[in-house]
Amino acid sequence: MAKDFSTMEDSNRSSNPSIHELSDPARRVLLRTGLGATVAGLLAPLAGCATGGIGNSGPLVGFKSVPVSTADTVVVPEGYSVQVIAPWGEPAGMSGENTAFKWDASNSAADQETQIGMHHDGIHYFAQNGSTSGLLVMNHEYVDDGLLHPDGMKTWNAAKVRKAQAAHGVSVIEVEQKDGRWSVVRPSPWARRITANTEMTLAGPAAGHALLRTAADASGRRVRGTLNNCASGITPWGTYLTCEENFIFYFNGGDTLSPHEQRWGLRKGGAGGYRWHEHDERFDATKHPNEPNRFGWVVEIDPFNPSSTPVKRTALGRAAHEGATTAVTKDGRAVVYMGEDARFEYIYKFVSRDKVKPGGFSENATLLDHGTLYVARFEADGRGRWIALTHGQGPLTAANGFADQGEVLIKTRQASDALGATKMDRPEWIDVDRERWVYCTLTNNSNRGGDKQPGTDTANPRANNTMGNIIRWREDGDFDGTSFQWNHFVLAGDPANERAEAKGNVKGDAFGCPDGLWVDGRGVLWIQTDMSTSAMGKGELARLGNNAMLAADPKSGEIRRFLTGPAGCEITGATGTPDGRTMFINIQHPGETPSERNDPEQPRRISNWPDFNPGGRPRSATVVIRKNDGGVIGT
Ligand code: FEO
Ligand code: CA
Ligand code: CA
Repeated sequence: MAKDFSTMEDSNRSSNPSIHELSDPARRVLLRTGLGATVAGLLAPLAGCATGGIGNSGPLVGFKSVPVSTADTVVVPEGYSVQVIAPWGEPAGMSGENTAFKWDASNSAADQETQIGMHHDGIHYFAQNGSTSGLLVMNHEYVDDGLLHPDGMKTWNAAKVRKAQAAHGVSVIEVEQKDGRWSVVRPSPWARRITANTEMTLAGPAAGHALLRTAADASGRRVRGTLNNCASGITPWGTYLTCEENFIFYFNGGDTLSPHEQRWGLRKGGAGGYRWHEHDERFDATKHPNEPNRFGWVVEIDPFNPSSTPVKRTALGRAAHEGATTAVTKDGRAVVYMGEDARFEYIYKFVSRDKVKPGGFSENATLLDHGTLYVARFEADGRGRWIALTHGQGPLTAANGFADQGEVLIKTRQASDALGATKMDRPEWIDVDRERWVYCTLTNNSNRGGDKQPGTDTANPRANNTMGNIIRWREDGDFDGTSFQWNHFVLAGDPANERAEAKGNVKGDAFGCPDGLWVDGRGVLWIQTDMSTSAMGKGELARLGNNAMLAADPKSGEIRRFLTGPAGCEITGATGTPDGRTMFINIQHPGETPSERNDPEQPRRISNWPDFNPGGRPRSATVVIRKNDGGVIGT
């Protein structure tokens, strides 16, 4: 999600205290001039050299940085090349379905149901034949209706709603490499589109709950579709986890909202302006108040079985989920880390009850249904703890509005409020390095420290946090530890900024608004930026150009700009082949405008990437990055 919709969610009005209210109020004075003494002590030690991984003996990060760019193209370092595959609207490759993209966006909803979706986001390469062929599974977060239909939203009808729904969700495509060039295999028996209308099940403790039952589904166990699929993850048993982020933007609320609806950011008319409720009644929460409760979950998909039913895993909690990153304890249990990207929301982890079994999805079909969900609380002294969201413990009782564990999970935000979790600056992607540090991007939060808003604290140390930061923690003991130590890996920024708090402490190339995060097979921490379209190129982001991808050495802290994207895009999602010689990333929403949607009369006004067709329009796409000498990416 890039765009600062004027209604970007900021729904946490809970009274649980921020860290600073529990510790030294004098710190806030220190923070006004930069970093307080306590925060300075929580900055990551930047020392030492990294060791290599996949057959490299040189430095972990060896390429020459690329400069800031405002060009409408993808720029990579000398010695690297890029190839575009799988743009929005190309056939996904299902057998018998090969409808071509129409440059004026006049493809029908039925066409779009067989074509690759819009606004590519989280992505993973599932190897089939090592590093030469496999499945690419990717999210399609949202749509720009100004580009999706020939006349944008000037007219509005059920067919347009259906097309928008079909451009959401997930694509499974087969890709193969020949002589260093990658292509989509068509037809492929694995090719699949999952959309906002695909049948799914709800599993885990909340499945069947009264709050999940609707007129169309008296069981509370069957849902149509997944929405606003932002970041993603994988499991050790070979499945894909897609995460439902700003789902509430699609629902129409009434003139008066219940406390539950307010806490989840429901708005009259729908905060995202998608207007689905006008032609698809289930998105009208005034008529179907439980339908929003059926979104905001992590959804598990078995990419190797095209007829499998995706499963919404309620044990992992409900949130505006950014991502889901799995680690495994030494005794074989799965631990899933999740950020909730909204202002002042929380960081979660789930620890499975059972051990991962050898095999695939069928052997682990219920592993994510049993376990404990925790929310993070960061303390001012560099320590932190995980607080269990378990019904009957502490305030999570019927007397406080939580009838059972299902209600705790459906109302994860309210439960976390009650437990005193730490309100964060928009937690986005999470990944784990080779030293067991767990990194989370906190992309930005311009409301931090604002009027009647939570103030700064040691974990979220900058008021009007326009630049974002990357926090990291290491669990005490194993990944299931209930306490941890933490520090700031980097405070993003631009040293040329006047305001001390926007300068950052980047050891290397300046950047702002970290979002995507990926630790590759050699241990490089790849950082992708999502400066919002309304803020990009202005104010404190003026000198940072287009969104970018950078490589960080987790040990030395050095950060180098590796790639810059085309105009109006964000860079998001990263994956690679096992040999480290091919990287796939996604370019989302090239050509996005600061206004809510593109002007269909001038779709090429900002960008015409990647096709530069004079009659076309900008398209999200996957970019393949290779080294010209066939070497390992990043060296
Ligand atoms: Fe969809 Fe939080 O970015
Ligand atoms: Ca983002
Ligand atoms: Ca994101």
